[in-house]
Amino acid sequence: MESVLLTGGMGYIGSHTAVELLREGYDVILVDDLSNSSADVLDRIESITGVRPKFYQADAADHEAMTPVFRDNNIGAVIHFAGYKAVGESVQKPLLYYRNNIDSALTVLELMEKYNVQRFIFSSSATVYGEHNTPPLTEDLPTGGITNPYGWTKYMIEEILKDAAKANQELSVVLLRYFNPIGADESGLIGEKPNGIPNNLMPYIAQVAAGIRDHLNVFGNDYPTVDGTGVRDYIHVTDLARGHVAALRYSRTHTGAEAINLGTGNGVSVLQLIHAFEEANGIRIPYEIAPRRAGDVAEMYACPDKAEKLLNWHAEKTIEDCCRDSWRFQKGIADELRVMRSR
Ligand code: NAD
Ligand code: WQD
Repeated sequence: MESVLLTGGMGYIGSHTAVELLREGYDVILVDDLSNSSADVLDRIESITGVRPKFYQADAADHEAMTPVFRDNNIGAVIHFAGYKAVGESVQKPLLYYRNNIDSALTVLELMEKYNVQRFIFSSSATVYGEHNTPPLTEDLPTGGITNPYGWTKYMIEEILKDAAKANQELSVVLLRYFNPIGADESGLIGEKPNGIPNNLMPYIAQVAAGIRDHLNVFGNDYPTVDGTGVRDYIHVTDLARGHVAALRYSRTHTGAEAINLGTGNGVSVLQLIHAFEEANGIRIPYEIAPRRAGDVAEMYACPDKAEKLLNWHAEKTIEDCCRDSWRFQKGIADELRVMRSR
């Protein structure tokens, strides 16, 4: 049987994609070095789906460690999630980000060539649209003008992949440009678990709701947007995961490199998200207006038409679903901590 390899498969988006693929009956293999995830995710995937996927703890950039993964399995396609993703950290440690993100993509591509694997789906990001494009963002817009090394790694890997697809006529590359993934599987068993102080809005809101932080700082209320706060395209991670299932299906009959947005097409402001969370969960989120955050743009949202046309996919869940499911997962973490402390 053919397997789908998920590098970085124990992480936030990878674990949700594993669940959706298993639900659809795919054979799934996970590789992760656990640099930003934990081993218990495997148990949780098994609890949700009833299937325990094969797991290799390995650095995807390590040729030697990755060889058995390709040699000992019949891999039909790779979904490459592995990489570091903290924007601020990438400014402090650019070499670490360039090394890990680019090297892991290159190693996987080299092994795919060696073992004749011809389908590659890449976790790209809306960040490749940079600061100079006006939403709704369409895939034909020029990429670049990015404000941090993390974003440049996505840009550079996209270029590498386009060249690889030009050189190999059999290769199918799908560049999935994610907008802002939030939410969690309905089970509440897997979700986003940032280390330390969250950088992203939804995990921060969830920690304020849990009483871990006393208030949220809203970064700027003088943007030219609906209420002055930043607007983003928040997409439920389960919708995003299903977008990967659709991309995998598409890659069976496709060759070349195709960039496809995975977003909802709807812009939601920071204040709108806070209020949606409050409504959905009946919890008040105290916030204060703070200065703008360096590198932020006023508005970003997808044109989702290409994904509908090529993948026959669109996001289905609402912002209320996102808020309810993020909170269910966060509450689960708090309950586990309480149980651990009481032991
Ligand atoms: P995540 O950190 O939860 O998952 C990434 C996983 O990759 C982690 O489990 C980590 O341990 C693993 N990893 C990192 N380097 C590795 C290496 N060299 N070898 C093996 N495993 C390695 O992040 P996520 O939110 O699930 O993001 C998945 C992918 O999607 C990343 O490439 C990220 O850049 C991209 N992306 C994320 C977002 C977002 O907002 N979450 C948006 C756009 C794109
Ligand atoms: C969303 C909005 C903030 C935190 C980042 C990466 C991007 C992609 C997704 C990977 C903005 C505001 C935030 C807070 C706030 N990741 N905010 N207070 O910046 O759109 O995207 O994650 O590819 O590359 O840049 O997401 O969740 O950080 O911010 O007011 O404490 O919330 O200013 O308007 P962002 P975010």
